[in-house]
Amino acid sequence: MLSQKLQDAINDQIAFEIYSALTYKAMQAYFEAEDLPGFANWMDVQYQEELFHANKFFTYVCDAGGRASMLPIQGARNDYASPLEAFQVTLEHEQEVTSRIGKLMDLARQENDHAAQIMLQWFITEQVEEEASAGLIIRKLQRVEDDGRGLLMLDQELAQRVFTPPAGAA
Ligand code: FEO
Repeated sequence: MLSQKLQDAINDQIAFEIYSALTYKAMQAYFEAEDLPGFANWMDVQYQEELFHANKFFTYVCDAGGRASMLPIQGARNDYASPLEAFQVTLEHEQEVTSRIGKLMDLARQENDHAAQIMLQWFITEQVEEEASAGLIIRKLQRVEDDGRGLLMLDQELAQRVFTPPAGAA
């Protein structure tokens, strides 16, 4: 049975995951306006991933006998100075998510909630990938700098990303 404290913390994380989704949807709009459809596609996939994360937490709360709730969600930032800045913000955002997941795991340990710890393990692994993919794109953007052709090549690469929910994932 989910403790009230852990339930409240997971509900707060559901709201943060939806805020993450809005953040990336707003970045998609920025890239669409910049005529960079591949970057926009990458952000759309990121948006879908965040909704998947929110739903995974939501399903867990319901399955664990708790009460999921939809808390207020703040609006997203809509403008960026450059593709590099957008991805720097992406990495900082994901670092914050990683820190939040770590705190949820600490709480699950304090509460001796073994099922929640197993559920959170998936997110801990996921965050390694989230930070790595944003970091790699930052390094590529730093190499490209003001080279328009390099930016268009990177745009083509990011156009290949597709959303694939993990097999058997809730
Ligand atoms: Fe839901 Fe990008 O972490």
